[in-house]
Amino acid sequence: MRFLKKYSYLLSSYVRAKINFLAAYFKARWCGVFGYSRKCLYSKKFGVSVAYPRWGAVVPHKFSSVMVDIGSGHGEIVEYLSRDSKNLVIGFEVRSRYFKKTLNKVKNRPNAFVFKDNGYEKIFWLFRPLFVSRIIVMFPDPWPKARHAKRRVLRSLWLSRATLLLKLGGDILIATDHKEYFTEINASALSLAQQNSGLKIETGRYEPSRFGLVPTHYYTKMGGGNFVRIVRMG
Ligand SMILES: C[S@@+](CC[C@H](N)C(=O)[O-])C[C@H]1O[C@@H](n2cnc3c(N)ncnc32)[C@H](O)[C@@H]1O
Repeated sequence: MRFLKKYSYLLSSYVRAKINFLAAYFKARWCGVFGYSRKCLYSKKFGVSVAYPRWGAVVPHKFSSVMVDIGSGHGEIVEYLSRDSKNLVIGFEVRSRYFKKTLNKVKNRPNAFVFKDNGYEKIFWLFRPLFVSRIIVMFPDPWPKARHAKRRVLRSLWLSRATLLLKLGGDILIATDHKEYFTEINASALSLAQQNSGLKIETGRYEPSRFGLVPTHYYTKMGGGNFVRIVRMG
């Protein structure tokens, strides 16, 4: 009985996640974000799959910047960046409560999309290489307990995959108030830059205005943090 309950819970979460995704996908279609007619969207030519369209393959040159915020929280950054209609802004948030908060801020903006999904994984489903201008990860969950540390995603493997999505001059911007996670991210970024001379690493005290961003809820609550920025130069 317990097994059945657990199984039906997992199934319903899966179905809900799929419905959320499809809702965002159809909104994108109706808002004309892809810039092609709906007929084209079905075309195999653009590599679109209904399960998760590769937006990178279908978004033409309508947007000058494509920005992704992983763990959007209250949605301040998605809201702020999507004020400029030249930006295409994608937010990912796994927790329902925060997903709704972000969504409510931008639901009428045709250039902003929020997915209730694992952004660290799904970003690779959405975009092809050399497509994203900026990947923002503000105050990622630090998983402070030793037995949970393996859940930290911002390590060499993920960072090296994510840099491939960046346009030349694009960057990954990570801020955290957690000293140990910061040291780990910084070390991974530096070792990546040693292997790839096209990457430049910057670190320091995080100031949103320096990067054209606004303070997030967590930034304000924690009174700041440090950043690691990985810029793709070549
Ligand atoms: C500490 S909060 C920071 C929120 C926001 N960026 C800020 O600065 O206020 C971390 C957020 O990341 C979200 N999160 C954690 N893992 C995630 C994932 N794999 N994909 C998307 N969001 C995630 C959490 O639900 C949480 O809202």
